[in-house]
Amino acid sequence: KVIDPCTLVLFGASGNLSRIKLMPGLFRLDQAGRLPENMAILSVGRGQVSREDWLADIKSMLDAKFPKGYDQAVFKRFIERHHYHANPPDDATSFTRMKETLSNEAIFPQNLAFFLSVRPSDFATIVDQLAGVGLTKEDKYWRRVVVEKPFGTDLKSAQELQSSITKHLKESQVYRIDHYLGKSALQNIMLQRFANTILEPLWNNQYIDHVQITNTEQLGVGERTQFYDATGALRDMIQSHVLQTLALTAMEQPASLSPDDVRAEKIKVLEAIRPIPVDQLEKNAFRAQYSAGEVKGEQVPGYLEELGDSSSVVETYAALKLFIDNPRWQGVPFYIRTAKRLHEADTRIAIRFKKAPLQLGKGQEQNWLIIGIQPRECIKLEIQSKIPGLDVATRSIELDGANRQEGDETIDAYEALLLNLMEGDNSHYLHISEVEAQWRLVDPVIEAWSKDRNPVHQYPAGSSDPEASRVIFEHEDQFWRYSIQLG
Ligand code: BG6
Repeated sequence: KVIDPCTLVLFGASGNLSRIKLMPGLFRLDQAGRLPENMAILSVGRGQVSREDWLADIKSMLDAKFPKGYDQAVFKRFIERHHYHANPPDDATSFTRMKETLSNEAIFPQNLAFFLSVRPSDFATIVDQLAGVGLTKEDKYWRRVVVEKPFGTDLKSAQELQSSITKHLKESQVYRIDHYLGKSALQNIMLQRFANTILEPLWNNQYIDHVQITNTEQLGVGERTQFYDATGALRDMIQSHVLQTLALTAMEQPASLSPDDVRAEKIKVLEAIRPIPVDQLEKNAFRAQYSAGEVKGEQVPGYLEELGDSSSVVETYAALKLFIDNPRWQGVPFYIRTAKRLHEADTRIAIRFKKAPLQLGKGQEQNWLIIGIQPRECIKLEIQSKIPGLDVATRSIELDGANRQEGDETIDAYEALLLNLMEGDNSHYLHISEVEAQWRLVDPVIEAWSKDRNPVHQYPAGSSDPEASRVIFEHEDQFWRYSIQLG
């Protein structure tokens, strides 16, 4: 796609996301020849930093990310794109100065993308200030604003943020990030579903027993204890990444791949999810916290120890049972879960099919279809097959297809999203209605959980799901499906 010459104005340019993802991502895009020739990057930070020091800092980000070295000719071209703007919190002239700086057309192309990689509480103020100096108004040139996750901390705050920024921006100017949508494995879900005649006819409540959407990590909360304790797993992962994965798994086929059509179908399915009845929370939602344990051979502390507050009831493990009230999915439970410090880091969709109408011989299991998102991008189908020999007995054999093959391009989620932003393609960004539908689902559970101060279930770091989480299963014979099945 053709990308207009543009300037990326990056707020929070010395922050973690920028160091780890955005700057290295932009560098890789430059290396691949994907950035428009005269694209400029204006980094915005609180400190007074000279351009020279800023360029040295960018070098340190790249050195850290690419320890084996990188192309010096590309580096030279890359740093020429970079400029720095100091935005001290108490400086009332900062945005006027920014406008003046940006008005130098010889350096800064006039299509502007503002990337807000800052504290969520600053989003609205920054948009107000940009608008105040006329930087959000589109005329000959486009103006886009990227808002990092989380968009609000609940439905109410998301709606407040929305009404505050729409005073100045049209929906088409707002790019709300859920970085999972930039992952090629997530973009593949729709393709795999709708490009395969053999899958779609089975993709409904006639044939599917239940669906599991899982996102587990071996990592703990690390240094983000304060953030995490104000957030929890439901807000951090389920409200965004896991529900988006569910939407792609369950949506109807869009009329086209246009951003509006794709997002309209995702909105429809998200809005068709039945709210969890809070008076029956214990059968539909489960939470737990990791305690001390062992991960990859290393002893690690528990969540409460890391936090230094034993009274916290914030979950590091969350599992929900959801139902979708539409003809395709009526009656099919969707078990979705996320956890930090589980025994394996794995993101996958596991679909269990119903029992075959006849039991033929011993050992007959139900079919599973597994879509691996990360670390391995794959699709696996488990088929029942006779064990050779005189007995009539079956076992599961696995048809395993790797989605990623040698020589395939690797493009990080943020690289893909940055490109989409410059192209003006917001199909992999969230529409406000998706954000709202997602908050509507998790808010009541978060509220009920935060009020219930009873000690939360514990699971040792490095273990599999707490046994007690089985309480949300509809049937005795249902179980959590791991990437390597343990039993
Ligand atoms: C972020 C969450 O949105 O996603 C983190 O805030 C989480 O807690 C991360 O670790 C996971 O992203 P990825 O791409 O590493 O799976």
